[in-house]
Amino acid sequence: MEIEELAGAYDYPEDSPWLRANMIATLDGAIQYKGNTGAIGYETDWLLMQELRKRADVVIMGASTVREYDEFPSATPLVVVSRSLDLDFDGKVFAGARSRPIVVTCAAAPAERLRAAGERAEVLVCGDRSADVGLMLETLAQRGLRRMLCEGGPTLLAEVAAAGWLHELCLTMSPMVVAGTAKRILDGPVIDIQRMKLRHTVQDGDYLFLRYQVER
Ligand SMILES: NC(=O)c1ccc[n+]([C@@H]2O[C@H](COP(=O)([O-])OP(=O)(O)OC[C@H]3O[C@@H](n4cnc5c(N)ncnc54)[C@H](OP(=O)(O)O)[C@@H]3O)[C@@H](O)[C@H]2O)c1
Repeated sequence: MEIEELAGAYDYPEDSPWLRANMIATLDGAIQYKGNTGAIGYETDWLLMQELRKRADVVIMGASTVREYDEFPSATPLVVVSRSLDLDFDGKVFAGARSRPIVVTCAAAPAERLRAAGERAEVLVCGDRSADVGLMLETLAQRGLRRMLCEGGPTLLAEVAAAGWLHELCLTMSPMVVAGTAKRILDGPVIDIQRMKLRHTVQDGDYLFLRYQVER
């Protein structure tokens, strides 16, 4: 499938702020195989991720996911949520960023790491013991960063949903079963059922691109 054709089906809705999550899972619900998320993906899914980044005002990730990246070459600013701030601020993700990243943390973050973060990123302190994800998303929206793309991981995405901000879920179904103990795409305390409406299904060989939205 041509990526332009696929990506054309992912315009943001007019009403905003709007948070879209983009995730991939196997048929049995695993987010990775033996700790490797790339093992369940393929090129078109990777290309779609790049296209979705272009359409967003901001890309939001949890620190564990960011720690697995060598770089973040997108021009869209990256928002990283972290309490420990155990992030490589001199690595390419931060030092080589095309737009200044935003680090969202809490008052309990180590002071020395806060200083290191401030040299490479804008730092937003949103909460005491951990970052208040709802407050973070409201703050971003108030700044005009209204088309949001959350790329997980599962811990952060569960918090986004718990805060009532999961407006859209783009899910790539990878045609594999892997069993094991890999996480699901949301990993957190149970929340009230959030029913979603299927906006589209695009088939590419054995892969399926599903787009679900909350009913407003
Ligand atoms: N299949 C997929 O589509 C997909 C997508 C994304 C990620 N993944 C995989 O998921 C795995 C990571 O999963 P994960 O659930 O551990 O990752 P995650 O959500 O990316 O990161 C969790 C970390 O984010 C920070 N964090 C989250 N909520 C916070 C809050 N409210 N306040 C402060 N800090 C907060 C903490 O960082 P600190 O530890 O720094 O305090 C926490 O340890 C990776 O292996 C990645 O490859 C898969």
